[in-house]
Amino acid sequence: ESFRLSPEEGQQVRLTRYASFAVCTGEEETMHQREALLAAADRGYPALYRAHREAQTTLHRRCDLRIEGASEEESAVLALSRYHLLAMMPWDREDCSIASKGLTGEGYHGHVFWDTDLFVQPFCTWFFPEQSRRMLRYRLGGLAGAREKAAQYGYRGAMYPWEAAADGREETPLFAAINILTGEANPVWSGRKEHHVGADICFALHQYLTFTGDPAFLPDGGYEMLFGIADFWVSRAERDPESGRLVIRDIIGPDEYTEHIDNNAYTNYMAHFTVRQALELAPRAEREAPDLCRRLSLAEKAAAWEHFLRDLYLPVPDERGIIPQDDSFLLKPVLPGIEKYRNAAVRQTVLQDFTREQVNELQVLKQADTVMLLNLFPSLFPPEVVKKNVLYYEARTIHDSSLSYCAHAQALAAVGETGLAENYFQKCLRIDWNDNPMDSRDGIHAASLGGIWNCILQGFAGVRCENRMLQITPQLPSHWKSLDFPLMLRGCLLRIHLTGDSVTVSVEEGVPDGITLCAAGKSGQLSAAHPLTIVL
Ligand code: IFM
Repeated sequence: ESFRLSPEEGQQVRLTRYASFAVCTGEEETMHQREALLAAADRGYPALYRAHREAQTTLHRRCDLRIEGASEEESAVLALSRYHLLAMMPWDREDCSIASKGLTGEGYHGHVFWDTDLFVQPFCTWFFPEQSRRMLRYRLGGLAGAREKAAQYGYRGAMYPWEAAADGREETPLFAAINILTGEANPVWSGRKEHHVGADICFALHQYLTFTGDPAFLPDGGYEMLFGIADFWVSRAERDPESGRLVIRDIIGPDEYTEHIDNNAYTNYMAHFTVRQALELAPRAEREAPDLCRRLSLAEKAAAWEHFLRDLYLPVPDERGIIPQDDSFLLKPVLPGIEKYRNAAVRQTVLQDFTREQVNELQVLKQADTVMLLNLFPSLFPPEVVKKNVLYYEARTIHDSSLSYCAHAQALAAVGETGLAENYFQKCLRIDWNDNPMDSRDGIHAASLGGIWNCILQGFAGVRCENRMLQITPQLPSHWKSLDFPLMLRGCLLRIHLTGDSVTVSVEEGVPDGITLCAAGKSGQLSAAHPLTIVL
């Protein structure tokens, strides 16, 4: 665009650009948007700015997290992440979701990854449950595409795409960066072999149901999605003739530096969790959606799910207490001089010294993998085993993905390694707040911005919820005096206040029907009448 102006000397010229972000799937919507934009421009900048501020203030109140003692940088990045998270939400639609770069860049072509389900969606589940529901509805809209992908690969059920866009089909490119030895483009295996995303969706669904108790989502498509994903896992596993167990071969877990491996611990446990969830909900589905259950032959499915749960191999800690990331990981040599790559100014420099195939044969991780599993299921193993594994895998991780720092900060905080956790928290804050403009060249990192909140709520505040039990185990950074935040739980708006030695929960809206607060081994019932304080 060019503008011809003839200003007088000293005259100020102000150019106001009116822009509108919208999803337009047809001519009519495009017209409607154009009209809306013109009408907005007619209202003028000051009026739009006022309306924007009002809207921001309303939204801000719902996720108003305050840290007494936070550094200037911590407060600034918290505001930055809140701003982007709120801006990137498709507030009024369920046919689109959140891309890995939000609305700020064209990296990954606006595709939706597991970043959304596990890193961004918790923010919604805690503060904007209606938005969390929309994100699940988006996944529901992708069910046909996921079924198509499963059939294409010879599996049953729903195999969700690694990268998704509008119609739920697989969007992952087949090739990417150049192999340093051959000069050929490296194949991208994630679309074909990274399968955990379906289970990640089921985890997000489980969290949504736990925090909201929404009775309508499952009968309204949710059962079908969950059962479809469970069926996929049953067909994805194969019987190992030697052990007689079911195994999941030739897979990629979250750590994308390790490809074509067998029995990735994260994937196997997540598959097990998904099928268990399906089996547990089957009787409820029979009551709530009998027609669907007949159509799906649920009784037959449930029998197959039971066998799967009985026979699936789940990696357990070895004699040192280390959970094998996969069948071969612990047999490989450790990458020598990992610090060089961890400290490099740019990411993925290890691929300048080694080919993908060479990296695959080393004990080196791009990002949290088993650590991610322990973040999702902190009670899967005894606390000392969890801690040992977080430290073991952290020492072998380069953190070449923006998803890694927040996951480690959360895990380290949860195991009481507060100093190391703070260190990773600071690194995570700097992912989109630093002096290197190249870092955000393709857009900001939605998962990391969401991960900041996961790290605060689940790591430092130690918030967990199971059924109607709200558990809080704070491990605040040394310079934080207190942490205060709202939380939506089962239709109630709670306000939680944490200090080094107490937890106080007040009910600001709603009636907390049978919700128990549990902290430091003590518990009490929440009541709308007065705040409940537990001394730590
Ligand atoms: O989903 C992530 C993946 O875990 C690591 N590479 C980038 C993807 C998009 O952020």
